[in-house]
Amino acid sequence: MKLERTVADLRRELAGAPRPVALVPTMGALHEGHLSLIRRARQLGATVVVSIFVNPAQFGPGEDLAAYPRDEGRDVRLAREAGADLVFAPPAEEVYPPGFNSRIEVGDLAAELEADPARRGPEHFRGVATVVAKLFNMVGPDVALFGQKDAQQALVIRQLVRDLDFPVRIEIGPTVRDHDGLALSSRNRYLSSSERRRALGLSRALRAAEALVEDRELEADRVLAAAHAELEEAGVVPEYLELRGAGDLSPAERVGGETLLCVAARVGPARLIDNVILRAPAEGTLRPRPLTGAAT
Ligand code: PAJ
Repeated sequence: MKLERTVADLRRELAGAPRPVALVPTMGALHEGHLSLIRRARQLGATVVVSIFVNPAQFGPGEDLAAYPRDEGRDVRLAREAGADLVFAPPAEEVYPPGFNSRIEVGDLAAELEADPARRGPEHFRGVATVVAKLFNMVGPDVALFGQKDAQQALVIRQLVRDLDFPVRIEIGPTVRDHDGLALSSRNRYLSSSERRRALGLSRALRAAEALVEDRELEADRVLAAAHAELEEAGVVPEYLELRGAGDLSPAERVGGETLLCVAARVGPARLIDNVILRAPAEGTLRPRPLTGAAT
């Protein structure tokens, strides 16, 4: 497996590489969520590229850029074991040389939820879209993989690719969770054991909403109330808990075809996000019921 640091070396290495080329962009601190995307890339691509770059442009002033976990040796080993052929880990000056002065702005999608000025702010998705566009131009992948864990980011990238005609197919991998339901995130390591228990409120809230929808309760108010109750029980105050259209983030009054329930909350020092896609059960579907006692 190769490790490259400059765009020139990366391009030289990829010039004759077998296609399709599959790209998994990451900021390192790799966990099973990232590795599941790399393994899927291995199935899709003849050449698998993993980028590791902690992108300063997507961190706000109050965020954890300096403290963001970095362990390149471990990441390179894990990427190789999961099937990467090439890791691209450029220094910041290679991506943003002196005089760099362009930003890609993805419209309405990047003005909601995470992009609210009180949260990560509008600069966040500008930074994501800009670095992802640069990585696409540097690597020239046929397919690029992202995680459903960052649902809004995935939609922003789909829009970017559509609007700017990037010749790349986007595939979204499912959220990988710990055995107890907590969505894997590099930020989970900031949690103490008691905070980690509280953090379970997020996935429990999503699960409670999902259970209600399976029972054909589709009204936003009721579904949200069930999720809020779980958060409250865990002592977690959400920054937001919202039902949105899964394709465009439009506000949803009811659970329809594909509806995204997304949540963000601060738990101790960590800011956590999670989401689930809710689907109204098809008419006439038998709903599985747990057995509650002996049959009469
Ligand atoms: P990072 O947070 O390192 O995540 C890299 C990819 O892994 C993203 O597509 C993210 O959605 C996915 N991912 C993270 N946690 C996951 C989980 N528990 N299950 C499944 N996938 C998961 O997202 C970024 O980096 C950056 O914004 C980046 C796209 C690299 C641009 O800088």
